[in-house]
Amino acid sequence: MEKKTCYITTPIYYASGEVHIGNSYSTIACDALARYKRLAGFDTVYLTGMDEHGQKIEEAAKKAGLEPQAFVDNIADKTASLWQELNISNDGFIRTSYDYHVEAVQKLFEQLLAQDDIYLGEYEGNYCVACESFFTKTQLGPDETCPDCGAKTRIVKEESYFLRLKKYEKKLLDYIEEHPDFIMPVTRRNEVVSFIKQGLEDLCVSRTSYKWGIQIPSNPKHVIYVWIDALANYITYLGYNSNNDANFKKYWLEGDQVIHVVGKDILRFHAIYWPIMLMALGLPIKFRLYAHGWIMMSGGKMSKSKGNVVYPLTVKERYGLDPLRFYLCKEMPTTEDGLFTYERFIEQYNVYLANDLGNLVSRSIAMVNKYFGGTIEKCASTSLNKDANEQLEKIISENTKKYLDYMESFQLQNGINAIFEIVGFANKYIDLTTPWALAKDEALKNELNDCLYHLLETLRLVTIMLQPFMPDTTNTIFEELGVTDKSFASLTFGKNSKYTVIEKPIVLFKRLDLTEEYKKYGISE
Ligand code: MSP
Repeated sequence: MEKKTCYITTPIYYASGEVHIGNSYSTIACDALARYKRLAGFDTVYLTGMDEHGQKIEEAAKKAGLEPQAFVDNIADKTASLWQELNISNDGFIRTSYDYHVEAVQKLFEQLLAQDDIYLGEYEGNYCVACESFFTKTQLGPDETCPDCGAKTRIVKEESYFLRLKKYEKKLLDYIEEHPDFIMPVTRRNEVVSFIKQGLEDLCVSRTSYKWGIQIPSNPKHVIYVWIDALANYITYLGYNSNNDANFKKYWLEGDQVIHVVGKDILRFHAIYWPIMLMALGLPIKFRLYAHGWIMMSGGKMSKSKGNVVYPLTVKERYGLDPLRFYLCKEMPTTEDGLFTYERFIEQYNVYLANDLGNLVSRSIAMVNKYFGGTIEKCASTSLNKDANEQLEKIISENTKKYLDYMESFQLQNGINAIFEIVGFANKYIDLTTPWALAKDEALKNELNDCLYHLLETLRLVTIMLQPFMPDTTNTIFEELGVTDKSFASLTFGKNSKYTVIEKPIVLFKRLDLTEEYKKYGISE
C-alpha cells in the first residue's frame, strides 16, 4: 500500500531579520511535527525557506552597501546553516528570489489579472515600511504609528493593483464553517471569523515605491506585494506553474495532508489572503493551519533595543541542542504564549531531563548490569509486582494514546506532558517494586527480572515517543538499551523480548546549578 503523504511548511523567514530563540520556534516545532509524521508512516515533505523581497530588505541591503541579491544570498546561507545546527530535518529550502518561484508567481498574478480577480486602481494610505503593510486610520496607533510594530507610518499614494477579497468573503466564511479543523486552535479560528465578518476590503497587491520585488510582466513599473509573492512559495516549491508539477499533484492536489504552521502575528495572511488566492486560482484550499503563540521574555517581547535577545546557538553551546528543542516545545501551550528565561530553562532541564528522564535511564541500565550482567529477557508477570505492573501498563497505554492524539493536532506541549506522565510513574514504579530489596533474595529473581523488564520496556516506549523532540538524545538512549527498532510499529508494551544494555551509560543531562550558571554567564533574563 502506498504511504499517505504529508506536506508541512514553516513560514518563510524574512531575509532582513535574525533568527533568535523566539522565531526559531516555528521551525523547531515544525521539525518535531515532521519527524513525528515520518515516524507515523507518512511520506513527508517538510519545507522552510526565505522571504527575500520588499522595501525593508531593499533598504537594509543599501545600508549594508550591497546589491539586494548579494545581501539576501548571505542571509539565506547563514539561515540554512543555522537550521542544520539546530538539527532541522527540512526537505526543502525555498528562496523567493529563485527563478522558478519568480516565474510561477508572475504567471499566477497575470492569470488573476486576466480573469479580473486582480484589477488596477489607486491606493492612498498609511504604510508601515517595516511590516510592509498599509493600515486604515482606525487600525493605526497613536501619532499614526503602526499597530503591529509601533513605527511611524508614512502616507503613500500610488497606482496599485488590488486583489478582490470582498468577492470571496462569503465563500471563505462558508469554507471555514464547513471545515471546523481548518484553523486551529479554535480561539484563532474565532478571531479570523470575526475579522471577516467586519467586512473585507480588496487588498492592495502591488507597489511602485521600490524595485526589489517580482515585476508584473504586463506592467513592469509595479512589483508584486511581498505577501502574494511569499504565500505562493507553498505551491511554487512543489512545481506549481512549472513544467514539472508532479510534486504539486502528489503533495497538494492529490495529497492526504497539508499543514501550514505559523505564528499568531501572521494568522490573517494565512487564514484570509492565502485561501482567497487559492480559490481565485481555482485550486483546492487543502491545508490546515496551526497558529501558535509567541515565545516571550520575562520583560515582554524579545528585541534588540531591550537587549534581551537570546540566540539558539548560545543556548546550544551552553546546554546542548536537545534541551533547547525540548524546552521550546514543552513551554509553548496550544493557545497562549510561551516564556523563555534562563531560570525557567534551568529548572525545567533539571526536573524533567536530569532528574526524571536522565535518572530513569541510568538507574535502569545500572540495575540490569548489576543484577543480570547486562542482559534481560521478557518473563511472565509475577504476582508480587502485579499491582504496580498493572498501573504502569495502564499509564503507558493511556498516555501513548494521548500522545498520538495530541501530536496529530500539533499540541506538542500536551504530547510531551503525556510522555512525562509515563516517565514520572516509571520512577515511582521503582519505589513501589523496590528492586534493590528483591535482589537480596535469590528466590525473588523472577520478580526482579519482571521489574527490570518493565522498566526497560517503558524506557523503550518513552524513547520512541521522544524522538521528534530530541533526535540525538533518543539515538543515544536506543544505543544504550541496544534497541534498533525505533518505529511506531513497535510502540506497544511487550514487543521487545530481550535487551542487552551498555555497560557504562553516559550522563545524558548533567544537573545544573543556577548560582554557578549566574557566575559563569551573568545570566539576567
Ligand atoms: N516572512 C514572513 C512569513 C511569510 S510566510 C508566507 C514572516 N517572517 S518572520 O521571519 O518574521 O517570522 C517567522 C516566524 O517566526 C513566524 O511564524 C512568526 O510568527 C514567528 N515568530 C516571530 N517571533 C516569534 C516569537 N517571539 N515567538 C514565536 N514565534 C515568533 O513573518
